[in-house]
Amino acid sequence: MAQLFENTRIKEMELKNRLVRSATHEAMSDKNGFPEKALFKLYERLAKGGVGLIITGFAFVARDEICHYKGTQGIDSEEHIPTYRELVKHVHENGAKIAMQIAHCGRQTTSEIIGTEEPIAPSPVKEKTLFVMPREMTEEDIERIIEAFAQASRRVKEGGFDAVQIHGAHGYLINQFLCPHTNRRKDRWGGSIDNRIRIVFEIYNRCRKQVGDEFPILIKINGYDTMKRGLRLEESTVMAQLMCEMGFDGIEVSCGIKEDNFSTLRGDVPVEAILDDWDIYKRKNPIYRSFMRHFGRRIVNPPPFSEAYNLESVKAIKANVDIPVFLVGGLINPRTMEEIIENGDADYISLSRALIADQDFPEKIRSGSREPSRCIHCNLCLGYLTKRSLHCYHGKRINKKER
Ligand SMILES: Cc1cc2nc3c(=O)[nH]c(=O)nc-3n(C[C@H](O)[C@H](O)[C@H](O)COP(=O)(O)O)c2cc1C
Repeated sequence: MAQLFENTRIKEMELKNRLVRSATHEAMSDKNGFPEKALFKLYERLAKGGVGLIITGFAFVARDEICHYKGTQGIDSEEHIPTYRELVKHVHENGAKIAMQIAHCGRQTTSEIIGTEEPIAPSPVKEKTLFVMPREMTEEDIERIIEAFAQASRRVKEGGFDAVQIHGAHGYLINQFLCPHTNRRKDRWGGSIDNRIRIVFEIYNRCRKQVGDEFPILIKINGYDTMKRGLRLEESTVMAQLMCEMGFDGIEVSCGIKEDNFSTLRGDVPVEAILDDWDIYKRKNPIYRSFMRHFGRRIVNPPPFSEAYNLESVKAIKANVDIPVFLVGGLINPRTMEEIIENGDADYISLSRALIADQDFPEKIRSGSREPSRCIHCNLCLGYLTKRSLHCYHGKRINKKER
């Protein structure tokens, strides 16, 4: 019977337990995507706190995709490699392993932020939270992005990371190809499952050539989203099977896209924080801003928070693949985590907000505590992320002048 605290191995990556810090954007990098001191400190805290594997917040693979959050990490140039080597060394010295998540935002950013033309996406489908109408990607765009992922994965390996994770969830570019709501293409990149997943296949093969056979390539996907024409579990289960056949070394299963009611996170909707921080609303649409202030919580109406809310998706996907499956979303109770691992329902437990609230949570569990996480799912950590670094606001007064 598998245990939460036991050594495991994914290809050449050895892990001391099955607890993973799920990718969490930290807003602790400079405007060129170089990690700042605060990120070194945070990863040191996480490593000392006992988590087996840290997955970084998503790093951009190309300049035309910087997202609207402050201080995103970048891996789009050779100059990044020496700094990441330092960062990785620091994590290893403090007892954890580290994977880098690489991503492209596609339509989940704005032209103001990327500073050029409109954002790109598989199809020109309007993104309704950022008021973005993306440009449909050409064959050249697609080729450029595939190569950007491949070069980024090479840099990840050269930076000393233990693995790379491709961000195929949460409405970012790869998920935009997988999801029928955002992919309306009629060519070889859209339509059937085989066509929609083609970009993942191309990216995987190109990355594998760069990093060799023994370097773990992981992927994070959505089990489903709640858009009317969105991705359904029946399809993502087939996709996961295809990803397994491609050669991926692990799949993390999440849900939701930016437009679908906060379903990725659940809990409270930090309307005030989001509106205070999102300049886009102030500049572009003052009426919308005032409307959201009054009716936001009713309009953005996420599914209620529940423990381990992606467990059903994980079970369905795990039944179809023979590579490690990571469960993320609402893991707050040590007993539940143990049960899931012991029953073989998932191979790894990924935590985001629980580790924002308390980086020592894994070590506390290891030394026998059965106290649940102190996170109350207020989601202010995400709400304030466009202007401030990652922080837990539970029990803290928020100074209005600071906003
Ligand atoms: C502040 C914040 C930042 C996040 N940044 C990322 C990210 O960079 N990449 C990613 O795949 N998911 C990101 N997520 C989603 C988490 O990885 C995770 O899927 C989600 O929060 C559910 O897990 P939890 O209930 O343990 O928080 C973020 C979540 C939060 C709260």
